[in-house]
Amino acid sequence: MGGLEFQIVSNSEADTKAIGATLAELLTPGSIVGLTGDLGAGKTRLVQGAVAALGSDDPVVSPTFMLVREYDAEVPVHHVDAYRLSGAAELEDIGLDNVLDPAAIVFVEWAGTVEAALSGGWLEIRIDTVGDTGRVMTVLPHDGPWSARMGELKAALAAFQGDSLGDRPVSGTGRTGSGQPGSS
Ligand SMILES: Nc1ncnc2c1ncn2[C@@H]1O[C@H](COP(=O)(O)OP(=O)(O)O)[C@@H](O)[C@H]1O
Ligand SMILES: [Mg+2]
Repeated sequence: MGGLEFQIVSNSEADTKAIGATLAELLTPGSIVGLTGDLGAGKTRLVQGAVAALGSDDPVVSPTFMLVREYDAEVPVHHVDAYRLSGAAELEDIGLDNVLDPAAIVFVEWAGTVEAALSGGWLEIRIDTVGDTGRVMTVLPHDGPWSARMGELKAALAAFQGDSLGDRPVSGTGRTGSGQPGSS
């Protein structure tokens, strides 16, 4: 599966929301996007950007205590947080057909925990934190339709493929570390 993945860079929360919004345009019912990365990486921020772009003004928060939240958007969005789950079996207990509804777009935070339940294919966005506001995101396909769509994804996210953090004048937080984060 190697070779298909690519990386994008976020320099701010606003960038991460814009990445989510851009990604949202390419999602269709049945799409499953798994977010991986540490606490505070920006997984929920990315989902916020996507859900807003899909036309929902529902508040998007980590569904840690609910396991799955549903947003009323152009296409229904399911937002799963697997942080407290021990594995895929626990997700299956609450009804995989409901959670991974083929009529919905599904975002799964901590997707690695429930990977065994995502056998129909999913797109991983792995977020690595670099300093306070830098994020390097690796986009990689896991089966299903995603391998064939990597070129399309890469083109859509081209604006975020700078060589390194700070390449784009999006915020004041480049590699020099000078200035405050851009207000937006
Ligand atoms: N480039 C960035 N992208 C996303 N969030 C960022 C970025 N820089 C700083 N942050 C901050 O990091 C935190 C990310 O929180 P959240 O999205 O809830 O993370 P997660 O869901 O991965 O635990 C927020 O407080 C946000 O303001
Ligand atoms: Mg979260």
